[in-house]
Amino acid sequence: MSNLQVQLIKKPDAKYPKVNDVFQVKTASTPTASQLKDGEVFLENLYFSIDATMRVWISGAKTYVDPVLPGNTMFGQAVSRVLASKSQKFQKGDYVIGVVNWTLYQIISDAKLHLVKRGGDIDDLTGYSFLGPLGISGLTAYIGFEAIGKPKEGETVVISAAAGAVGEIAVQLAKTYYKCKVIGIAGGPEKCDYVKKQLGAHDCIDYKNENLSKRLRELTPNGIHVYFDNVGGEMLDEILMHITDHTRIILCGAIATYNQTGEPYKVKNYPRLIIKRAVMQGFLYFDHPELFKPGQATITQMLKQGQLKIRYDVQNGLEQAPNGLAKLLLGQNNGKVVVKAKADQPKL
Ligand SMILES: NC(=O)c1ccc[n+]([C@@H]2O[C@H](COP(=O)([O-])OP(=O)(O)OC[C@H]3O[C@@H](n4cnc5c(N)ncnc54)[C@H](OP(=O)(O)O)[C@@H]3O)[C@@H](O)[C@H]2O)c1
Repeated sequence: MSNLQVQLIKKPDAKYPKVNDVFQVKTASTPTASQLKDGEVFLENLYFSIDATMRVWISGAKTYVDPVLPGNTMFGQAVSRVLASKSQKFQKGDYVIGVVNWTLYQIISDAKLHLVKRGGDIDDLTGYSFLGPLGISGLTAYIGFEAIGKPKEGETVVISAAAGAVGEIAVQLAKTYYKCKVIGIAGGPEKCDYVKKQLGAHDCIDYKNENLSKRLRELTPNGIHVYFDNVGGEMLDEILMHITDHTRIILCGAIATYNQTGEPYKVKNYPRLIIKRAVMQGFLYFDHPELFKPGQATITQMLKQGQLKIRYDVQNGLEQAPNGLAKLLLGQNNGKVVVKAKADQPKL
């Protein structure tokens, strides 16, 4: 079994992600089951999640995880198969989820993993779903609403990066589960079409080709009750001009700022929060484990009833993971970016 490893070789500069030269893919030694210590498992990593926040990790900034520094192996969430085990928790053949290295094979402590399926087979779509609707993307959307947004029936909910992984689930939850009027914001006519026609939003603003302020005035005449913010920066500033009394702003992410080098963007319109008695609060989905089960149950129910559409943007092969991240940061992804670690072979 030959192993691959994706390593950060330099900190991203102003040219990244257009110039995608910060990672290298190397062959690496493959661990063996004989190296296992008590409490460890030997994994084959099958499906990787590509997430916007990885851009922050590779900047070297101090956050809730250790930064990835040049020379380090990149890491992220993945669904993996247990090939051998010296763990009390997991056995050979189990499927687990956790934060692992961007490698095909690795030995890891069982403390970092959760069981997703005991034995048997797993198909690609099921693997992706543990990273998408039933994992980080779905839980982030659900927890943002439950912990902060608390949308009430009939309210107006605006969602940025609405065609993205978190955004597409947030749109459908707001529409179907919370029964709100939903306005998406997305880049380009194709994405806006998807948000309206496939996800069922009331409307979608193409912020790259339309005047955001004018369209928000037209579409939210009574103001925005809940804003699910995936973008931050200037877009957040504009939204603040359209809030109403007691608006709840869910600070989920600030992707517009992740690639910025130099002075960080300073939000100017925050005094609007005072006169509108509004709330703006950040959150990290993993701080709310009490909401995982209800979130997964809600999303599973919606999936079963055909009320949740999910698009996967699949990168074929671990060596494509850096391209997947750059694509997402350039807004070129359609839905949840996932990596199938071992590329499908072209059919002859
Ligand atoms: N708080 C948490 O626990 C948590 C967990 C997971 C993710 N997040 C956050 O959720 C957000 C979405 O992440 P995701 O992984 O689901 O990615 P995603 O939405 O699938 O992809 C990112 C999208 O962001 C948009 N974008 C990129 N650069 C932008 C810019 N400069 N200005 C405006 N929009 C830009 C692009 O869509 P357009 O083409 O429409 O611009 C792009 O497709 C991120 O901010 C991420 O950090 C937070």
